[in-house]
Amino acid sequence: MPVVLSIIGQKGGVGKSTLARAVAVVATQGNLRVKLIDLDIGQQTSVRWSTTRASSRALKTIDAEAFSAVGEALKQVHDVDLIVVDTPGYLSPETFEVARASDLIILPTGSGTDDLHPTTLLLYELEHIGIPKDRLCVALCRVLDAKEERGARRYLESTGYPALNGSLPERLGYRRAHNGGKSVTETTESSLNERANELMASVLRKILQHVRAANRLHSAH
Ligand SMILES: Nc1ncnc2c1ncn2[C@@H]1O[C@H](COP(=O)(O)OP(=O)(O)OP(=O)(O)O)[C@@H](O)[C@H]1O
Ligand SMILES: [Mg+2]
Repeated sequence: MPVVLSIIGQKGGVGKSTLARAVAVVATQGNLRVKLIDLDIGQQTSVRWSTTRASSRALKTIDAEAFSAVGEALKQVHDVDLIVVDTPGYLSPETFEVARASDLIILPTGSGTDDLHPTTLLLYELEHIGIPKDRLCVALCRVLDAKEERGARRYLESTGYPALNGSLPERLGYRRAHNGGKSVTETTESSLNERANELMASVLRKILQHVRAANRLHSAH
């Protein structure tokens, strides 16, 4: 069974497609078979990015496809180790379907109260519908400075959902990378790649923890 990792949020532009593309890239580079599902049928950011990426011979291709519903995608996608689900920037009943179908859920958020508040409300809503806490991760994105990040970490800790280690600063280099079909781990600036890789290492650790727990459960039966 593939691991299903989804990126959700109730705001536009927080970094969902950014994280989805980066996870797909680092997992592919780690020799996992990855499928990137784009549920943002209107924008198809991840699908269009993968098409741009495919035109560069130097980059490993990422198999991305748009679907209108997660159930349909999971029925049709076979023979992969990891399914990364990118979702639109608004909440709908489908958001909760995605959450129920996922082994891990990442909520990217900005560091201001305007972003942290809706992120927290969504975390509580997900907990309320029965999503186990250990499936939910918060990733700080578009961070402007270290002080802002520290404040956001304190806020999230107080909600019971501490942020993943690592964060993405707001940088032009990340946008340029996307324009060229690259991920935030593949910019031309090593310091930006290191920052993105630190966050990706946290995500990969979560995936590994999930796989180990699933294997333990499997061998216990
Ligand atoms: N850390 C960053 N620094 C600079 N630009 C960024 C950063 N993260 C994302 N961006 C850019 O901001 C825009 C929005 O990011 P992204 O597409 O990841 O957000 P999203 O949450 O998927 O948005 P939507 O809800 O519209 O799908 C993109 O142009 C992306 O390249
Ligand atoms: Mg998007």
